[in-house]
Amino acid sequence: MDSFSTLIRTASHEQHTEAETSTFMSDLLGGRLGVEAYARYTEQLWFVYEALEAGAERLAADPVTGPFIRPELFRLPALERDLTHLRGAGWRSGVSALPATEAYAARVRECAERWPAGYIAHHYTRYLGDLSGGQIIRDKAERTWGFERKGDGVRFYVFEGIGNPAAFKRGYREWLDGVRADDLEKQRIVSECKRAFALNTDVFRALGAEFPLSA
Ligand code: HEM
Repeated sequence: MDSFSTLIRTASHEQHTEAETSTFMSDLLGGRLGVEAYARYTEQLWFVYEALEAGAERLAADPVTGPFIRPELFRLPALERDLTHLRGAGWRSGVSALPATEAYAARVRECAERWPAGYIAHHYTRYLGDLSGGQIIRDKAERTWGFERKGDGVRFYVFEGIGNPAAFKRGYREWLDGVRADDLEKQRIVSECKRAFALNTDVFRALGAEFPLSA
């Protein structure tokens, strides 16, 4: 049987393509959107990572999620610096979650509080993606809107504490393969991962509607 890390990657492959090729992502990567759209997207990420990282202390002590909770992954401080750069020091009073973001964050919180193994699906979907395709987004954002390389505006994509992302991802896959869960529970985690991708796609759809291209 395939390892769990292979299973989860293979199972989410189709939805990865869907997320990657969503209108909003395509427009963003195609350099067709203004910095306001990028800022709005960054805002949404703030709500998601707030949900992912708020319960870190408890999740770090949990035998199932413990190995995954690594300070070098935490994105909230970086997002806050980016938002300060994008929106100014008073950014906090101006941010709002789209309904799709609200739903996504609510599901992450629910897993974090009630189903640690399900939380792993959300952790994987975001952080392994940020370490991978996130680097393509960073490069594009720097070129399109002129952010300093790996500086304010794109710090979310910069993992200062991870010198070798490829090696880190290999280690991450080992943690996945070491998850203590029976086959049925692993299937449930895979389903939650698909749900996590769908929740991301929903946010992209909402952002795409907010920032349509005037053809
Ligand atoms: C345009 C946007 C995106 C691009 C260009 C992109 C690109 C990539 C690439 C090239 C990899 C492979 C890295 C490797 O094999 O080491 C990858 C992996 C991954 N991406 Fe994306 N991605 C994008 C969007 C997303 C989104 C929106 C999500 C989910 C929220 C996501 C989640 C993941 C995950 C979880 C992996 C790890 C797969 C694994 O090895 O298990 N990606 N991405």
